[in-house]
Amino acid sequence: MKRLSIVGSTGSIGRNALSIVRMFPERFTVKALAAKRNLTLLAEQIRVFQPEVAAVFDEAGSRELQALLPADCRTHILHGEDGYAAAAAWESAELTLTAVVGAAGLLPTLAAIDAGKTIALANKETLVMAGAVVTRRAAERGVAILPVDSEHSAIFQCLQGQQREDVDRILLTASGGPFINRPAEEFAAITPEQALQHPNWSMGAKITIDSATLMNKGLEVLEAKWLFGVSQERIRVVVHPQSVIHSMVAFRDGAVIAQLGIPDMKAAIAYAMSYPERLALGQPLPDFSGGTDLTFREPDLEKFPCLALAFDACRQGGTLPAVLNAANEVAVNAFLEKRIGFNDIPRIVERTMAVHAGVDDPALETIIAADCWARQSAGELVSD
Ligand SMILES: NC(=O)c1ccc[n+]([C@@H]2O[C@H](COP(=O)([O-])OP(=O)(O)OC[C@H]3O[C@@H](n4cnc5c(N)ncnc54)[C@H](OP(=O)(O)O)[C@@H]3O)[C@@H](O)[C@H]2O)c1
Repeated sequence: MKRLSIVGSTGSIGRNALSIVRMFPERFTVKALAAKRNLTLLAEQIRVFQPEVAAVFDEAGSRELQALLPADCRTHILHGEDGYAAAAAWESAELTLTAVVGAAGLLPTLAAIDAGKTIALANKETLVMAGAVVTRRAAERGVAILPVDSEHSAIFQCLQGQQREDVDRILLTASGGPFINRPAEEFAAITPEQALQHPNWSMGAKITIDSATLMNKGLEVLEAKWLFGVSQERIRVVVHPQSVIHSMVAFRDGAVIAQLGIPDMKAAIAYAMSYPERLALGQPLPDFSGGTDLTFREPDLEKFPCLALAFDACRQGGTLPAVLNAANEVAVNAFLEKRIGFNDIPRIVERTMAVHAGVDDPALETIIAADCWARQSAGELVSD
């Protein structure tokens, strides 16, 4: 029986993880949950899974949640940054799934690492912002970070039983998002409703927009660099619109190992939850009857400048990836609220990065300061 803490339980990843718990009640039990706004769903999750603790964003939320719960509910309700961290590091949990979106995932993940929990990492922003700090701390505590992102789960699976020195490069696949075939001249007119229609994956709003700009692939390059300890030069992005190959690893003898599956996050989430075992998920296989062609092409960095910006941040390192991430979060939010256009997302990220005075090998406090600075700078550009 694996004891879980799920921070971000009301999101797309969190809900999928809980559906796996429901499928395998003899294998998983939920000790802690955390969510932000969706208190009705959190209350329902508490009723079903009866965790020892649940955390919400603020005090008002905790009062609202209490009111939704039966009087005899024994779940402890916490709130705020400390409450989130406590839920992530909850004593009786052994594996913490970090399924919060954005920079808000960093501190709960660090709290869970400090408490010695195995991490099932969905929140890629944690490694984008503070990959050096997080991986160093995990190594010091002897904590494993298991990838949940489907591409990184695929790479992790391809690496099982292999020698790290045999790895030549990582081939990170990208669907290309909904606008892969749309001419760049039409990008200015793209609406949030259009950008939220991902052709293959069903995900939360922020990552869906990131997939449309290809920023998501850039964040994943940074994530792969830290998860697998490879330099950016050895990570190649390959556009593969069918999303059947979830990623590949090329070895020094020319062999390439790929992991395939239908585009459904359940398999990757379940693998991190049950590693090293596999669960009988009953997922259908990809279509091998000839109905699906697997195609590949290079990403177009001119059409999708967010990917080039992320490559830059990855090469330069220091505080720049945290700045890229924060400016992107601000710009994506503003786009979703229809305050800026689609092309303004890379423009705002680029201008924020351009005026940032980078710091090499930053401590956690410096990274958090860079994140705050970038949010303010990008916010001013949104209002311009
Ligand atoms: N969705 C996918 O298929 C997928 C695939 C690969 C990687 N990921 C990564 O997994 C993470 C989660 O993605 P998602 O698509 O599941 O996101 P999502 O559907 O938007 O869910 C985000 C979760 O985090 C909570 N949350 C949002 N802002 C918060 C904040 N400031 N502080 C604390 N909690 C907050 C939300 O609570 P409320 O809903 O209660 O407000 C929700 O539970 C992201 O880092 C994403 O890049 C996702």
